[in-house]
Amino acid sequence: MQINPPKNSIRGMSESAKIILEGKEYDLPVITGSEKEKAIDISKLRAMTGYVTIDPGFKNTGSTKSAITFLDGEKGILSYRGYPIEQLAEKASFIEVSYLLIYGDLPNAEQLEYFSESITHHTLVHEDMKRFFEAFPTNAHPMGILSSMISSLSTFYPESQNPNRSIEDIDLTIHRLIAKLPTLAAQAHKNSMGHPLIYPNNDLSYTKNFLNMMFGMPTEDYNINPVVNDALNKLLILHADHEQNCSTSTVRVVGSSQANLFSSISAGIAALWGPLHGGANQAVIEMLESIKSSGTPLQHWVDKAKDKSDSFRLMGFGHRVYKNFDPRAKIIKKAADDVLEALGIDDPVLNIAKELEAVALKDPYFVERGLYPNVDFYSGIIYRALGIPTEMFTVMFALGRLPGWIAQWKEMVEDRAPIGRPRQIYTGANARDYVDIKNR
Ligand code: CMC
Repeated sequence: MQINPPKNSIRGMSESAKIILEGKEYDLPVITGSEKEKAIDISKLRAMTGYVTIDPGFKNTGSTKSAITFLDGEKGILSYRGYPIEQLAEKASFIEVSYLLIYGDLPNAEQLEYFSESITHHTLVHEDMKRFFEAFPTNAHPMGILSSMISSLSTFYPESQNPNRSIEDIDLTIHRLIAKLPTLAAQAHKNSMGHPLIYPNNDLSYTKNFLNMMFGMPTEDYNINPVVNDALNKLLILHADHEQNCSTSTVRVVGSSQANLFSSISAGIAALWGPLHGGANQAVIEMLESIKSSGTPLQHWVDKAKDKSDSFRLMGFGHRVYKNFDPRAKIIKKAADDVLEALGIDDPVLNIAKELEAVALKDPYFVERGLYPNVDFYSGIIYRALGIPTEMFTVMFALGRLPGWIAQWKEMVEDRAPIGRPRQIYTGANARDYVDIKNR
């Protein structure tokens, strides 16, 4: 018996896929990645058939080929340039990982020294930027300040706006960004406290310098606890890249118009701010605190999250890609326990987090949908233990994600990616004539 193929269908083959549209067959190439993941290349589809594809939220769309980060959501695998995240979080420094992401390989001793020194050399920000801080309201969210400040760096370094700059100039902009973002982030915090700004200390490592600018005072030396420094290093590494997520895609799309790197990163910071993305770490702690102060049983909150007529979601649960577990959350959960123990902190919010996790993980709603705690479920608890205020949590995420954004932007520029410009399916009114206002 012969089964007629439907009028429109798509069948995958090893090297190509066939698509049948209005009875006509077209061959589309299949691309295979280095970890054997497959994609149907539809880049010529519209020219061949007149059709586009539609995929709201890009849930099934690969926007680029990339050699930076690999993740397998089903198996819970995450690696940067082939190195497993577990090994990097355990053994590397954040600066080493930044070099790896941006330049493709782990640095040797000489390369690392040059990279670290160059970054240290650029940590100061122009004194005129202080006046921007004075103009923000005292309760301004630090993510709003950071995004504005990073964009305004392009006005202090106008040569960064030239799309035809040399590799050396691009490197200089990259080093400036990595150097200045922690200074601006810490200054945003100090400004919100009404405290004097602490200038960078070039004798300190990247993470220690940041902690000193955050918590130091001009009148006394700040004693950096190695447990705090190690935890910060680990958190930054775990956040350093996550392939084509919302903020990274934003950086690539903005950069694809040849907008300068500072502005592209500023746009990425804005995208990260949302509670469904990086803003979740702040939202998690705020949620856990309201659960604690409400005194209502955890089941009430789980039921609320399941109720489709209620917009409440369990913040820190679920991920677009991870459907079994988030490998970063596994490492962070252990780090949270270690940090709290080492610092002698008993945080009731952590206990609520653990209970909530246990309740949700047994609930069929969460199990069936593959909703597990993500990286942000536990990161806020560590940041709290490190003394970082809740509003700064997403800034911490930005600090970690910076080398990933830069690496992805650099790859996009080097690949001469075309400008990002999706299509749409128009669903509005058909052509009609303008009606004079008195006749409407
Ligand atoms: N609580 C309750 N229900 C949820 C949640 C949640 N946190 N997340 C997803 N769902 C449900 C959702 O209602 C939908 O149900 P149904 O199939 O019945 O319509 C189903 O699960 C699939 O959800 P989705 O919104 O279609 O999934 P998505 O891939 O578009 O969204 C997500 C992923 C991370 C935005 C979402 O899980 C979420 O809003 N989580 C809470 C916010 C959060 O923790 N974000 C941090 C992500 S990790 C850090 C980062 O890298 O950004």
